Amino acid sequence: MLKIETNHSLGQYTTIKVGTIADYFAVLKSKADLLEALAFSKKNKQPITVLGGGSNILFSQRIKGLVLKNEIKGIKIIEKNKTRVLVEGLSGESWSKFVAFTADHKFYGLENLFLIYGTVGAAPVQNIGAYGVEFKDSFHHLLAFDLKTGQEKIFSSADCHFGYRDSVFKNKFKGRYFIYSVVMSLALKPNFQLGYGSIKEKLAEKGIKKIKIRDIVNVIAEIRNGKLPNPQSLPNSGSFFKNPEISKLKFKKLQQKYSEIPSFPGQANKVKIPAGWLIEQSGFKGKKFGPVRMYEKQALILVNEGGASAKQVLSLVNKVKAAVKKKFDLDLSEEVNII
Ligand code: EPU
Repeated sequence: MLKIETNHSLGQYTTIKVGTIADYFAVLKSKADLLEALAFSKKNKQPITVLGGGSNILFSQRIKGLVLKNEIKGIKIIEKNKTRVLVEGLSGESWSKFVAFTADHKFYGLENLFLIYGTVGAAPVQNIGAYGVEFKDSFHHLLAFDLKTGQEKIFSSADCHFGYRDSVFKNKFKGRYFIYSVVMSLALKPNFQLGYGSIKEKLAEKGIKKIKIRDIVNVIAEIRNGKLPNPQSLPNSGSFFKNPEISKLKFKKLQQKYSEIPSFPGQANKVKIPAGWLIEQSGFKGKKFGPVRMYEKQALILVNEGGASAKQVLSLVNKVKAAVKKKFDLDLSEEVNII
């Protein structure tokens, strides 16, 4: 029987370690637990909030209704042919563990996404990405439960409307579904994406010529650990903002004023500007405001030295947005889900 707690503190469940209280709270370990939680929500007319790894969420107020911490775990190979394999991960599984499993089996496609914090079930919501690869590139389908009706629904890639750090689960279907399992389609032969960042340089430094999937995973871990703070020692929620995408015209104008402005190709012919650069140029890199600051090695990450309140976090967020707007006339939008 599912244990449902009342007035439960959520402080420990987000990687940025900013807490709040939930009216009701339960940890899910199985599909049966989920169905019990759905029945409770229906009977008592309580809305549901689903929590995965808590790596992309900031609680800014008391959470009404039932919060579900998803710990439904498992990884399984479900089908294999000569060129590809389908691997299923249950949604409460750690994303990094899932990637490590695929790398250990020499299934190719997810290696650049190693060490992204969070769960398998949160990966499609955000369409997580790193080093030139996105979740959607290897996605096959997912199974979700409607939180209101309890009905199961299969989502294909087209159904998910993936975009840059975006999907239907952040828009039309926000808060509507519990993602139960995700199936990825992976290649049995390598097609490494080495073009982004310093992957090639790191491999060369190590004198690796015949590249194996484990080498990529190790190099990605090294790059990430060198630049990104480990939330276990310095609470944070990864990139706090998205990289803004602007028109080519607007980019040209900015380039006239700031010739060194970095850029990457964006969606739909747009140009993506690293928000980390904009924040650094606006003077916020490493600058401390009480217990919070934008991280000194990667200005896109907001870190909590300990004990920060949502108010303190949001005050810094607003300062950063205002400064970037003033200097570059660009609007930053949050990547982190603020609820
Ligand atoms: N930059 C600066 N100063 C900074 C940080 C970055 O000038 O303090 C500039 C540099 O020119 C650098 C460029 O920004 O070359 C890009 O930086 P980085 O490679 O660190 O990537 P990012 O665009 O800041 C994105 C993702 C990360 C992902 C990396 C690597 C977003 C919002 N973030 O960051 O994802 O790990 O690329 O692919 O798209 C996350 O989403 O939580 C996350 C960590």
